[in-house]
Amino acid sequence: MKFIRVANKSDFDSRRMKSFRILGRPVGVFKAEDGSFHAMEAGCKHQHADLTTGEVRGHAVTCPRHQWRYDLRSGECLQGQPGTLRRHGLKLEGEDIYITLHPLEEQQERHEFNLDDEMDQERQQDISPAHGPLRQDHG
Ligand code: FES
Repeated sequence: MKFIRVANKSDFDSRRMKSFRILGRPVGVFKAEDGSFHAMEAGCKHQHADLTTGEVRGHAVTCPRHQWRYDLRSGECLQGQPGTLRRHGLKLEGEDIYITLHPLEEQQERHEFNLDDEMDQERQQDISPAHGPLRQDHG
């Protein structure tokens, strides 16, 4: 499982969420109220609003647009709506936060199909902080 460093714990001293583009996909790192960190897709399953501009309460993030809530530990929508956000593995080493390059669900597929790590190393340059909202749809 390939981990990449994305942030410092201190980046979350005054915020609870931060978004990144990883391999072209929006991924959010979230700090729950108990101080635990979680990483998962940042685009809401409803209309793709950026969840990292929402609100974290307990172990849930609320979408800023229509208030769907997602469990940070499982990615499940707490309103029972279809679609679960894909989670990334996350580990802490000292002050550094690392997440898996691929969602956990893909890790199993990659393992099954024997995809190599060299491709992942080349793709690490595709990681950057996201700038601005992920999508600006209104309605
Ligand atoms: S876009 Fe997230 S609830 Fe509608």
